[in-house]
Amino acid sequence: MIYVLDFGSQYSHLITRRIRELNVYAELVPHNFALDKLRTAKGVILSGGPQNLSDSRALRVDKKIFNLGIPILGICYGMQLAAFELGGTVRAGQKREYGPTEIKIGKPTKLFRGLKPKQLTWMSHGDQVTKLPRGFGIIAGSSNCPVAAMADETNRIYGLQFHPEVVHTKNGMVMLKNFIKITGAKPSWSMKDFLEKEIEKIRKQVGKEKTVCALSGGVDSAVAASIVHKAVGKNLICVYVDTGLMREGETETVVKTFKQYQKIDLRIIYAKKEFLAKLKSVSDPEKKRKIIGELFIRIFEREAKKLGGVSWLVQGTLYTDAITSGVSVGKATAVIKSHHNVGGLPEKLGFKLIEPLRELYKDEVRKIGKLLGLPDAIVHRQPFPGPGLAVRIIDEVTEEKLDLLKKADLIVREEIEKAGLHKNIQQYFAILPSIKSVGVQGDARTYGHTIIVRAVTTADFMTAHWAKIPHAVLEKISVRITNEVSGVNRVVYDITSKPPGTVEWE
Ligand code: XMP
Repeated sequence: MIYVLDFGSQYSHLITRRIRELNVYAELVPHNFALDKLRTAKGVILSGGPQNLSDSRALRVDKKIFNLGIPILGICYGMQLAAFELGGTVRAGQKREYGPTEIKIGKPTKLFRGLKPKQLTWMSHGDQVTKLPRGFGIIAGSSNCPVAAMADETNRIYGLQFHPEVVHTKNGMVMLKNFIKITGAKPSWSMKDFLEKEIEKIRKQVGKEKTVCALSGGVDSAVAASIVHKAVGKNLICVYVDTGLMREGETETVVKTFKQYQKIDLRIIYAKKEFLAKLKSVSDPEKKRKIIGELFIRIFEREAKKLGGVSWLVQGTLYTDAITSGVSVGKATAVIKSHHNVGGLPEKLGFKLIEPLRELYKDEVRKIGKLLGLPDAIVHRQPFPGPGLAVRIIDEVTEEKLDLLKKADLIVREEIEKAGLHKNIQQYFAILPSIKSVGVQGDARTYGHTIIVRAVTTADFMTAHWAKIPHAVLEKISVRITNEVSGVNRVVYDITSKPPGTVEWE
């Protein structure tokens, strides 16, 4: 295992990912992670970060880390920090170095084994190391930064001023692989191994006790449930609450996958009436979200009680969900929307938790899903908000509006998928605003609903661009919706990115 200490760089996660891609298990932990735990690692990487060492508030590292005898690699701010803590000097450079930068490798070093003297790297820094700590030598330099890399081979402490984890550093993966070799960590971590070990662990942990899982139809809870099912078989009971706010065909896919193919004991609770009753006359988006989240928990609680003797609850919490609170240092975030999903069931439901995906990223979860034989409809499903279509119907949610939106949404999905655009568009759907407009259909005046088509491209859903869908596809969508969905006479396309908009309308 390799620990990556997070000093707040936007690439900290990526370093962890890269190490895992090299088949060594890595974890991103806060910069002040306990020394006793670090001691158990094969190697430690100090990430980059936005701070400046001349600032007294800059994040620092416990100096004792350098006496643990473990190989250490400092990247960008991580290198400056290592130099500073060990007695070197860090100063602002003549100019900021940003973007592709050629470095020249000097002295031979294990870290650059197998590489030619000139290497293309990616730099992003203002400060630089101006005096090395004792025992260190320069192993590479650039025209603007004489200490582009440093090493103390005896104590196996290394520093790179550039970012080996980004693809723009052409041989970054070779450097990381070399560091792994220096640590002696065996490249034995694979998804398949992980899966087998996890199943065995859960089997031992749970024994013959009953386990319950709330399925949402999304990839996380589906994969978590399948892993636990492999471990405990019929002692797993899944509960799927059909809120009535799902998309067309959603419940059927879940039932087919879990009941028929996977033979999982699945209880479906049809609760559309309850949800619609609670949502009656509610138009405030936050109120809608809170009502749905709360009712979902109450229904799940009720069903779990009915089952009796359940000790465990399966949650599809991902690595990124789990670390957000511990690692993103000092960032107060405003509540934009109260998110609800089944992964967020409160712990005080009185069960012990099983979280088989806690160490995984989303794309790793999809790989596990494939290994478990889950169908593409689940593994590659686009994200769908917990409160469902309720946040895609502006104003009050009614059964009629739901029916109309489901039909329009299905057409949007069908046409985008038919055109093969779904591989590059991460989310695409329809919205029903509370606008009516005048139109003309079959020589008669109409006064009908508008449908908004929304489609975005994004890497992480924190920011997103509106998708540049070909006009011909938009036209097909528009013609089909106005012809096939009764009551709709106008279709518009949302050309707002995030920010300033959000992906969903509520
Ligand atoms: P926004 O609208 O905040 O959405 O830009 C970003 C992503 O999150 C999804 N989303 C949710 N997912 N529970 C979820 O599990 C929720 O309450 C929720 N609200 C929004 C949204 O679909 C998009 O992918």
